Amino acid sequence: MIRKCLFPVAGYGTRFLPATKSMPKEMLPIVNKPLVQYGVEEAVSAGLNNVTFVTGRGKRSIADHFDISYELEHQISGTGKEQYLEGIRYLINNVNFSYTRQNNMLGLGHAILTGEPLIGDEAFGVVLADDLCVEEDGSDGVMAQMVKLYNQFRCSIVAIEEVPADEVNKYGIIAGESMVDGLYRVTDMVEKPNPEDAPSNLAIIGRYILTPDIFQKIRDTPPGRNGEVQITDALLQQAKEGCVLAYKFKGRRFDCGSIDGFVEATNYCYENIYKKK
Ligand code: G1P
Repeated sequence: MIRKCLFPVAGYGTRFLPATKSMPKEMLPIVNKPLVQYGVEEAVSAGLNNVTFVTGRGKRSIADHFDISYELEHQISGTGKEQYLEGIRYLINNVNFSYTRQNNMLGLGHAILTGEPLIGDEAFGVVLADDLCVEEDGSDGVMAQMVKLYNQFRCSIVAIEEVPADEVNKYGIIAGESMVDGLYRVTDMVEKPNPEDAPSNLAIIGRYILTPDIFQKIRDTPPGRNGEVQITDALLQQAKEGCVLAYKFKGRRFDCGSIDGFVEATNYCYENIYKKK
């Protein structure tokens, strides 16, 4: 069973400066909820009730967000405003949060390896909170879809979607053999390739299930694209020696690491979630 989910949240969020100068990008709100809370809710709805944050300097407000604010509780207790805290109270009461700090930003692979002492020897989920995923047509959340697949195949899984050819250089790109509709066995994986070198237009989005042997693979992985230790490179080794699956998930994903995607997500959530409550 998968019980744990790791959130790498040490990144700077430079694309959102000056908003992210003293505030974590993961705390930017989509309408009235911080981006990271959407990710935690997705993990929890998949049964991943142990949430580990790999944080960094200047990220303390994330830990504060997932903790009780006694002053606030006192202020609004018994008023109509309590309803606004229902969602976050549920998480505080039902999730075990743990934190560790990545002192140096040496890449996503390195961030995940930093979480090893808190994950241990078991398969786990990874959510990159700036990819916001929303359910459509009553389907499960993306992480819940992936957990079902993991229970069937017992190997690492990455979520993928098709992207335009001129955007492949923003993602990890896979090549794979189709197994059943929407599910591929990965044969190749390249981190942010130039369009002419991309093995396909199937891009990894920020949802992973990783088996614990990934930690040793990461240790064995030299720095790759941008001089950083890439999870994509470690996963390629796993794919070569065993099996990695790539799954075209159901639902919609917004790239909230970019201003355009963030605004799109805001408009979508306002119309489809907030106004329909
Ligand atoms: C990371 C991964 C990349 C993946 C992307 C998804 O890149 O390295 O393989 O496609 O997340 O959002 P980043 O966006 O952190 O540069």
